[in-house]
Amino acid sequence: MRVALATCSRLPGGNADVRALAGALADLDVRAEPVIWDAGVDWSGFDLVVIRTTWDYTHRPDEFLAWAGGLPRVLNPVSVLRWNTDKRYLRDLAGAGVPVVPTRWDPDDVPSDWPEYVIKPAVSAGSRDTARWGAAEHAAARAHLRELRDAGRTAMVQPYLAGIDAAGETALVFIDGEFSHAARKAPILAPGAGVQGLVTPGDGRGTVTAATATPAELDVAHRALAAVPDAPDLLYARVDLVPGPGGDPVVLELELAEPNLFLEHGPGAVSALAKAVVARL
Ligand SMILES: Nc1ncnc2c1ncn2[C@@H]1O[C@H](COP(=O)(O)OP(=O)(O)O)[C@@H](O)[C@H]1O
Ligand SMILES: [Mg+2]
Repeated sequence: MRVALATCSRLPGGNADVRALAGALADLDVRAEPVIWDAGVDWSGFDLVVIRTTWDYTHRPDEFLAWAGGLPRVLNPVSVLRWNTDKRYLRDLAGAGVPVVPTRWDPDDVPSDWPEYVIKPAVSAGSRDTARWGAAEHAAARAHLRELRDAGRTAMVQPYLAGIDAAGETALVFIDGEFSHAARKAPILAPGAGVQGLVTPGDGRGTVTAATATPAELDVAHRALAAVPDAPDLLYARVDLVPGPGGDPVVLELELAEPNLFLEHGPGAVSALAKAVVARL
């Protein structure tokens, strides 16, 4: 059996998750290797493609989804990738009663009722093209909003949820439908920083550490997963939660396409993931 762990050209060997998973699969006599998704490879040679560190797809989402749709077999399923690579899925979650970050979709203007707010595109990863703006920065924020809209992208405008400054965001990782472990990501957006490029942790921003999920976080995460359309087979899932306006956890992101699973923070997570892959071969 041969498994491709799909990655991008910037990370030809994947990341720590990919290396750990390849090692655990080798221990189970499955050959798994990182393969660059857009390198023109003959995918018929693989029994399964597992999407992992394909983090450059946000520049070419249509091309990425067409590629995934043409694979003999891919996880998570391509219907899930289609739904989940655009944050408009948050509207479906909200419609199902799941608490999500309050969001204005493609508004004509920046908000005047929030002291601080975030503008970001619906298709993104790694905080690309995302910014935190204050009430004194409306002109720059308007230019940001216009730039996204002129590029034909769906813009999202949210209040800056200041609870993240103390609590960070909590990522709840699920493997094979079961909660595995949690991690805390330090807040990323600095005031006055403007539009972010690709954020690489350096000054403590975005740093990931082990965490313990609270019962309230587990409850919201389970509800978010239960609201995924058509109850698909999910090899893995990550639910990112932040304290909402009232302090209770709300969904910032539900990551079913190419989440970093922070496997190093979950005892037993690597072998659970490897076993879940083997069970699907
Ligand atoms: N409404 C918000 N309030 C506070 N911080 C936010 C908000 N939206 C995004 N952020 C910050 O920006 C980062 C990137 O936004 P996110 O929605 O996770 O998109 P992605 O990870 O796909 O780029 C988050 O990790 C968080 O630190
Ligand atoms: Mg995120």
